[in-house]
Amino acid sequence: MKGIILAGGRATRLRPLTKITSKQLLPVYNKPMIYYPIETLVRSGIKDILIIIAPDYAGQFLNLLGSGKDFGAKFSYEIQDEPRGLADAFIVGKNFIGRDNVTMILGDNIFDYDFSADIANFKGGGHVFAKEVPDPQRYGVIEFDEHNNVLSIVEKPEQPKSNFAMVGIYILDNRASDFAKNVRPSDRGEIEIPDVINQYLDRKELKVSTIHGIWEDAGTFDSLLRVNNYWAEKAKQQLNVDIAK
Ligand code: G1P
Repeated sequence: MKGIILAGGRATRLRPLTKITSKQLLPVYNKPMIYYPIETLVRSGIKDILIIIAPDYAGQFLNLLGSGKDFGAKFSYEIQDEPRGLADAFIVGKNFIGRDNVTMILGDNIFDYDFSADIANFKGGGHVFAKEVPDPQRYGVIEFDEHNNVLSIVEKPEQPKSNFAMVGIYILDNRASDFAKNVRPSDRGEIEIPDVINQYLDRKELKVSTIHGIWEDAGTFDSLLRVNNYWAEKAKQQLNVDIAK
C-alpha cells in the first residue's frame, strides 16, 4: 500500500492567510496542517508517500518535510502545475502507484481516527468513508442503504440525498489512475473525485464505512478554527491524564 497526500491548490478561500504560504502549511494547534494527514498515513502503516504540491511554495514543503526520515517514512514529491481537481492526484501519481494499491488523503483533511485495520484488510476495488454532517451540500455526498450498499455519490449536490459526506481519504487499487483519465472536468473546471469512485461503484467494487472519530476539512476559517481548538483541547486532556498517572 502506498500513500498520496494532495497538497496542491491555491486556497483562495483562506486569503489573506494563504497569500504567502500554502494552506497545508498553516498551523493547526502546535503543528503545520500537513503533519496530520502524514501522521494518519504513517500510523496506519504506510511509509512510502507521494506528496503532491503546487509550484508556488514547493520549497517550503521540502524545507519542512525533507526525505520523510523524521516521520519514519520515505517522501517523494510531484508538482501539480494547475489545480485540475482532486482526481488529478491519481494521474500525477500514476508512476508512483505502479502496480500497488494506494491510499489518497487530502492535505487539509484532519482525522482523529485510526484507519490501520481498513488499510490492512483492503483487498482491491475501492473503500471510502462517510461521516454525518450538518451541511452535506459542501461535500461529496454519499447515499447508502442499511447494509452499507452505496446507492449514489454526488459532488456538492443542491439537494443532498443523505447527510453523509464522503470524507477526504480513499483506499483504491491501481485502476484509479486509468479511471481518473476517463473523467471530464465539472462546471468548476476540475476533475472530481466522485467521478473516479463511481467507476468502482458501477463495477460493484465499492465499499463504504462510516467513521465515528473527529473529521474536519480545514479549508474554511471556521473549520480551521475548530480543528485548532479540538487539538488544543485534546493536548490539555492528555496532559491531565499524564499528570494523573
Ligand atoms: C473535496 C471533495 C469532496 C469531499 C471533500 C472532503 O471538496 O471534492 O468530495 O467530500 O473534499 O474534504 P473540496 O474541499 O475540494 O471542496
